[in-house]
Amino acid sequence: MLEQLINLADVEARARSMVRPADWDYIAGGAEDELTLDWNIAAFRRIRLRPRVLVDVSRRDLTTTLFGRRIALPLLIAPTSHQRMVHPDAEFATARAAAAHGIISVFGTGAHYAIDEIAAHGGGGPLWFQLYCYASREVVTRHIRRAEQAGCEAIVVTVDGGHYHARRERNLRNGWSIPADVELRNLLGVGLPEHLIASDGYPAFLAAVPALPPTWDDIGWLRSLTRLPLLLKGIMTVEDACRAVDAGVDGLIISNHGGRQIDGTEASIEVLPAIAAAVGGRTTLLLDSGIRRGTDVLKALALGANAVLIGRPPLWGLAAGGEAGVHRVVAILRDELETAMIQLGRPTIASIDRSLVVLPS
Ligand SMILES: Cc1cc2nc3c(=O)[nH]c(=O)nc-3n(C[C@H](O)[C@H](O)[C@H](O)COP(=O)(O)O)c2cc1C
Repeated sequence: MLEQLINLADVEARARSMVRPADWDYIAGGAEDELTLDWNIAAFRRIRLRPRVLVDVSRRDLTTTLFGRRIALPLLIAPTSHQRMVHPDAEFATARAAAAHGIISVFGTGAHYAIDEIAAHGGGGPLWFQLYCYASREVVTRHIRRAEQAGCEAIVVTVDGGHYHARRERNLRNGWSIPADVELRNLLGVGLPEHLIASDGYPAFLAAVPALPPTWDDIGWLRSLTRLPLLLKGIMTVEDACRAVDAGVDGLIISNHGGRQIDGTEASIEVLPAIAAAVGGRTTLLLDSGIRRGTDVLKALALGANAVLIGRPPLWGLAAGGEAGVHRVVAILRDELETAMIQLGRPTIASIDRSLVVLPS
């Protein structure tokens, strides 16, 4: 059955038929007019490719290295909250599929299962922890210690959300809230008011958990808190990229959160070239928002990213077929990327360079 899904649009269509409409809107939707959501896709489509022929591509190598960790593909699973909404195995299934492919998966404070549970039951692949800052520095410290103890290999601090409700109008219309069987186990055991879960469930609990929106002043503190590589997710300007690198972070995720936070921003692929020119040699640059094809991965690498993340596509795979569905999503992107590398005359990830793409004028 999953073999009939030959591209990510097929997986998306299958997933859509299997998810409750309001939950589907939560996953698919963006902020306000969903301009950025659309632009993320459109911007990749406007970039053209320049194939180079007569190159020996008989031996291909799609591996790359991030922070000393060799990975099978320049692709990571982005952190997405509430995976349990679409499949009972939730992050366990996603992590296992990623592990089987030899890629990194990122899970965060919005996961159903706690990071140590995912480390124990998620197939043993490399994990990164994504942090939203809540309540106090003590709580944040406990999150990071738990991630370290679970064996996470990097900490991702999301800086474009988590401490306010973006205006996602589909959710407002549907009156969407976290389904009753979906938990947030990373928020347990870190000193938050858990007794509220027993009385009124997670919505009441979350309402009582104050956000601790980080500012630049906190980045130095976060940096000093852990020896793990520290990345900021949600950087969209050269100014902030430079400031982050100066603050000592190890990597940036250029991202507009898949168009879910502030509507009207540029697509992340559009801001990549300038950010890569400014800080590319000094930091590890990752990108997400709108990756739907292997050629999208290649375009991002050509423009200066070290690797990319996918957010919605693994959720579609999870909904369509649990672990096997996520596995299928990564397999499709892997095959598409490899085919593109063959046809563009670039047998290795390191050989993918700027000369392969033409930007819209
Ligand atoms: C349903 C959903 C939940 C998400 N939850 C989080 C989250 O908890 N933390 C976070 O940093 N990003 C979150 N994101 C954003 C993703 O990490 C990623 O930036 C985005 O999905 C990339 O765009 P794409 O969906 O076009 O691949 C979420 C995205 C979706 C679709």
